[in-house]
Amino acid sequence: MPDRSPLALPPGFRIGTATSSFQVEGAADSRGPSIWDTFTATPGVVRDGTSGATASGHHDRYVEDIALLADLGVRDYRFSISWPRVQPTGRGPVSTEGLDFYDRLVDELLAAGIDPMVTLYHWDLPQALEDDGGWLNRGTVDHFESFAAVVADRLADRVRHWVPVNEPNVATMFGYAVGLHAPGRRLMFDALHVSHHLLLAHGRGAVALRAAGAESVGCANHHAPMWPATEDEADVGATKLFDALWNGMFLEPMLLGRYPADLQPLVEGLVRDGDLATIRQPLDFYGINYFMPMRVGAAPEDSDMFFALYDLVGYPETDFGWPVVPDALREWLITFRARYRAALPPLVVTECGAAYSGEPDADGRVEDQARIDYLHGHLEAVAAACRRGVDVRALYVWSLLDTFEWTEGYAQRFGLVHVDPVTQRRTPKESFHWLAELIASQSPSV
Ligand code: NOJ
Repeated sequence: MPDRSPLALPPGFRIGTATSSFQVEGAADSRGPSIWDTFTATPGVVRDGTSGATASGHHDRYVEDIALLADLGVRDYRFSISWPRVQPTGRGPVSTEGLDFYDRLVDELLAAGIDPMVTLYHWDLPQALEDDGGWLNRGTVDHFESFAAVVADRLADRVRHWVPVNEPNVATMFGYAVGLHAPGRRLMFDALHVSHHLLLAHGRGAVALRAAGAESVGCANHHAPMWPATEDEADVGATKLFDALWNGMFLEPMLLGRYPADLQPLVEGLVRDGDLATIRQPLDFYGINYFMPMRVGAAPEDSDMFFALYDLVGYPETDFGWPVVPDALREWLITFRARYRAALPPLVVTECGAAYSGEPDADGRVEDQARIDYLHGHLEAVAAACRRGVDVRALYVWSLLDTFEWTEGYAQRFGLVHVDPVTQRRTPKESFHWLAELIASQSPSV
């Protein structure tokens, strides 16, 4: 039986929601093409054959969406800027129309009493930059720094919280190592160039943001506790290495200015003088995107992969087949703090959520108990970590809306609000009403 007891969140704890540009905006004809437009145009890549051309229609309905945020009662909202909307080819001329859109979005949020957190890069790299090598090319970092400066010059007077790069590990592994995401490259360990460049983009982006007056700069790193498939030496070894590649490779350079010891031989040739100091910028918060733990083992002998991921049995699953394990979030937060205590700024869960389907019934009600249970369990896990002394300030539910879920298209529904993929009509789900009540019942912020 899921636990439905009242949540004991710390006073002042903030609950927000999050989205990303490619996944919700649509209006693809008013921006430059990104690697995701190219990738999703390849037949067979997206499970349901859709694309992000219209997505959740947020570009044209942002006023309606901000009204939904106000109804929900959140005071924090995380969204990302589409780089090709601001700079259609990723460098050079800036689109005034594109920047104006974000300007209006920010003003509308502030007028509704909502504090924006802006992510600069949530995977929609301008295609023109990919044509020059994308994140394999160190020059992309220079272009990113200029883009960061352009956006910050326009918005940092009103936007307090910033994230330069969303989930650099997923962008590296899925995009360039195994080819499951755009741009679909399968470079295996050669993709380490990409991770190093994304880490540099984080560092140089942070510097550009601060130079333009940004008050609070953090990160949004995907973290997953890694559990070995068995106690066999090969599985334990594979888990340790995968943990270093998935978790340590991003957090250690950012927090400590060094790569994990196990990975140093792999990155030696990539790191130039001064790079690690650039990557290790002071952070005002450390953002964690958490969805589930991973069960790792050595790859079978006939595979060209180095690791294999196995199902975690014995746990409830979301529609995506992802195990629901809130305790793993609590443990991760506690262990993370214990290991990196001195180097850690306050923590924020910058994404947490689950995919469950559900359609409006004749009365417009969208049953959504599984998401309520998921969110209850994970908020309780954060509250438990806080009781153990971990300083977690906020959790952003992924996502406000049903979005374009990358190669799953519209098949996986992460939203608190149902979005009809054809009409874009919005219907708040039962989880939305539950969360609104929870937020209204919280003690006032300190
Ligand atoms: C994290 C990513 O940042 C987001 O874009 C994605 O939709 C969720 N994971 C769910 O897969």
